[in-house]
Amino acid sequence: EKGGYEHFMLKEIFEQPRSIADSMRGRVRADDGHLQLGGLRSYLDRLAASKRIVIVGCGTSWHAGLVGEYLFEELARINVEVEYASEFRYRNPIIKENDIVIAISQSGETADTLAAIELAKSKGALIFGVCNVVGSSIARATDAGAYTHAGPEIGVASTKAFTAQVTVLTLMAIAAAKSKGTISEEDYRQLLIELENIPSKVQQVLEKAEKIKEIAYIFTYARNFIYLGRGLNFPVALEGALKLKEISYIHAEGYPAAEMKHGPIALIDEDMPVVFLATKDSSYDKIVSNIQEVKARKGRVIAIITEGDTLIPTMVDFVIEVPKTHEMLVPLVSVIPLQLLSYYVAVMRGRNVDQPRNLAKSVTVE
Ligand code: F6R
Repeated sequence: EKGGYEHFMLKEIFEQPRSIADSMRGRVRADDGHLQLGGLRSYLDRLAASKRIVIVGCGTSWHAGLVGEYLFEELARINVEVEYASEFRYRNPIIKENDIVIAISQSGETADTLAAIELAKSKGALIFGVCNVVGSSIARATDAGAYTHAGPEIGVASTKAFTAQVTVLTLMAIAAAKSKGTISEEDYRQLLIELENIPSKVQQVLEKAEKIKEIAYIFTYARNFIYLGRGLNFPVALEGALKLKEISYIHAEGYPAAEMKHGPIALIDEDMPVVFLATKDSSYDKIVSNIQEVKARKGRVIAIITEGDTLIPTMVDFVIEVPKTHEMLVPLVSVIPLQLLSYYVAVMRGRNVDQPRNLAKSVTVE
């Protein structure tokens, strides 16, 4: 059932070209500009007209929500707040007319997320779900939604569910932008074309698994890791750190790269591995100077870079290249090497990657 892979997690990482494609199937067609999410069709106007979106989720789903924040704000110019479901549910959250709540959950059974939905409902919010399990409690509790089609995720560490969530949120944000008129026809077409190319770009990253394994081997000794990114790659840094923590039990933290100066830089020495999300997008120059700051303090840098970048390889210890894509879609390719890195580090440390200690696949108690 592991299809020849040693672990479910590895199988699920390698399934991503397909699970991303499945999450777009029938929904996107670049050649004639088709973009439609069946479950949201009759709600698209309300989504586009909303003054504020509140995204709730936990763990990896919350990270997908943070990516969604950038997407909705940049493309559809809608104000977004992303909340941990567990915090949201115990406040007295302000929900106004025309606010929309989007609940994200792979399992559809997470207790805190379900409770957050019930609370938002009681305050009259319209609630969309982005769930992977059909007919799950969260899917049933929401007013409308779009399923991720990642297929069953068995490994406790979420991988293909994350990229499927980001894919669906991207489609929702583009659809809202189109309906609102905040996206140019050209950018719209370009995004759809680039979306269709994502599965093969993810495949190209997967083909670097051997190289990533070698890097993982070098860092198996580490007791700490820092992950840094900016913009859409900031949530990817958080996700990379979470993946490493949960399956290898190495302490890891993700930060927005510019926050480093405000404290975490004190941790940098020659034993500290720092993973930079350093793809060529609008924050590239800023990331380059953040890398310099870490190298000046002898940190050991692994950089995720865009193919063909010739500058960063001269500055850092290791690079992993990912194909160039539209800036809004970068998380879908940049997260892949981080999943593989944490997988190989955990395997080399002899961890039970599919069932890490203390963790359950679905957290049905608060
Ligand atoms: C991380 C992980 C957890 C889940 C979280 C939410 O790899 O698996 O952090 O993301 O428990 O679960 P769902 O998405 O099922 O609500």
